[in-house]
Amino acid sequence: MFPSVLVVLSLIFCACGENPAIQVTLTNKGLQYGRHAAAGWIQEKLEHLTLPDISGEIRFGLLFHVIYTLRSVTIRKCDFPEPSVEFYQGISGLKTSITGLNVALTGDWEAHWGFMHGGGSFDMALFGVDMVSVVQLGRDAGGHLSITSVNCNAQIGDIDIRFYGNRSWLLRLVEDHFKNHIRGQLEVKICPAVDEVIANLESHLKDMKVNFQVNQDLTLDLPLIGLPVVNASSLRLGLKGEFYSIKSPKEPPFVALPFAVPEQPSYMLSVGLSDFTVNSASSSYFSADLLQAFINDSMIPPGSSVRLNTTSLGPFIPQLPEKFPDLLMALQIYARNIPMFSFHCGAVMLSSSGVIKAFAIQPNDTLTPLFNLYVDSDFSGKVRITDGRLKGSVAMDNFTLSLAATEIGPFKTDSLEDMVRTLIDKAVLQQLNEKLATGFALPRTMHAQLVKPVLTVEEGFVAFASDAELLENDTIFS
Ligand SMILES: *[C@@H]1O[C@H](CO)[C@@H](O)[C@H](O)[C@H]1NC(C)=O
Ligand SMILES: *[C@@H]1O[C@H](CO)[C@@H](O)[C@H](O)[C@H]1NC(C)=O
Ligand SMILES: *[C@@H]1O[C@H](CO)[C@@H](O)[C@H](O)[C@H]1NC(C)=O
Ligand SMILES: *[C@@H]1O[C@H](CO)[C@@H](O)[C@H](O)[C@H]1NC(C)=O
Ligand SMILES: *[C@@H]1O[C@H](CO)[C@@H](O)[C@H](O)[C@H]1NC(C)=O
Ligand SMILES: *[C@@H]1O[C@H](CO)[C@@H](O)[C@H](O)[C@H]1NC(C)=O
Repeated sequence: MFPSVLVVLSLIFCACGENPAIQVTLTNKGLQYGRHAAAGWIQEKLEHLTLPDISGEIRFGLLFHVIYTLRSVTIRKCDFPEPSVEFYQGISGLKTSITGLNVALTGDWEAHWGFMHGGGSFDMALFGVDMVSVVQLGRDAGGHLSITSVNCNAQIGDIDIRFYGNRSWLLRLVEDHFKNHIRGQLEVKICPAVDEVIANLESHLKDMKVNFQVNQDLTLDLPLIGLPVVNASSLRLGLKGEFYSIKSPKEPPFVALPFAVPEQPSYMLSVGLSDFTVNSASSSYFSADLLQAFINDSMIPPGSSVRLNTTSLGPFIPQLPEKFPDLLMALQIYARNIPMFSFHCGAVMLSSSGVIKAFAIQPNDTLTPLFNLYVDSDFSGKVRITDGRLKGSVAMDNFTLSLAATEIGPFKTDSLEDMVRTLIDKAVLQQLNEKLATGFALPRTMHAQLVKPVLTVEEGFVAFASDAELLENDTIFS
């Protein structure tokens, strides 16, 4: 009894264990844009495509028996109507239909009737070719999107064929039999060809990377963590979206919470990014001991009236110039906890807590510890996309310094706190805000660019929606 309860419990926990931190939605508008781009590309590829040889045997009556081969069968012209593609909710897939495709083909024929032998060229036209293909989308064990053909149906409405060359009159005699035979032969070849294209696509998807090295410290894991969800208006993919430290990969002490990105049917695609993703990067930096800095006087801007030495800091900490007259100082700053980001309607918040260790630098370069301060700060920021650039602003909402340990006796931190707050405002935030006001160009690839992107900060996630424009169709699909 008890073990089976455990199994049931573990199944429940597995089922609701992991939430995607990144959600990608392709809307019907995006699907239709992709279909249109793909149709143009297919039309181009189909023209001048050479098909494999077709050979067969036709018997009619008791006496007549033709063995034929069609070679160098080339598409001369193809009138490719725009296919229709729609989300197929029932099986979480896509349904593609092509109706009324017309193709003109040309090639060489060769045939035997008993001892007689003939050959020459031919022209063939296929009219009203209809095809319906249904594919199912899924997820493989490695977290890749997978695609499988579940249904395919193809029909050729009518066929016309003209033979030229030696003894072509014989084939013309039996033209109707020949047409039916070839039509059957071609019809059964269409779906296997479509399935081959789908299998090819599937092998590309299988080879796609789901883990990316971001810089020398971080990797980003982006496998699918659930099945793709398809309904009549969209396709939704839930990705893990977690950063790991390369040096010391481990899980952060928090989990991704579920969130729902509202559907934006007027955009081709949208992406929801949970604060978990940003915080997993923060946690990785913290656990790899990368959130620390060493500061000395040479790093203080030359124009600053306050220097990092015991004389200059005397007005704030009277003991300093008394006990360590006119010595340069150094600060070691490190995070006490993981700096945490949180997304709220319209604003990004950052809460961080750190330690400042202060040292006096003796003339013989020995560092003499002076005191430790706890520094706690809250920042809030706004982000938006305007003129194709990511812009924003940051403000400091709260900043406190408190004495955590001291080798030089107690002192008040109020005036020091005011001074550092002003310093951060002037030296750090002002410059940062100037950069953020100019903004950063959004990424653009050789193949595609974003059109009219928008970004909003919601409760627990950032929602990004955009249209896309393909720049070089040819390189994308090949
Ligand atoms: C037709 O047959 C003749 C003689 O068998 C041959 O020389 C000629 O090349 C053939 N032409 C074609 C188009 O096959
Ligand atoms: C599809 O699902 C999304 C999100 O779950 C929802 O907003 C949308 O209304 C659904 N569309 C249809 C046609 O049911
Ligand atoms: C300050 O630190 C930098 C980098 O750690 C170092 O190159 C420089 O020599 C230091 N300056 C002083 C005055 O200690
Ligand atoms: C300390 O800073 C003051 C300016 O506040 C400067 O006059 C003095 O020379 C500095 N002392 C050292 C040791 O750099
Ligand atoms: C460096 O100077 C300090 C203060 O004068 C002294 O206490 C310390 O022992 C010296 N260290 C070395 C390695 O000479
Ligand atoms: C500022 O931070 C301190 C310590 O972290 C906290 O006690 C105080 O309530 C905060 N003030 C505001 C306005 O958030």
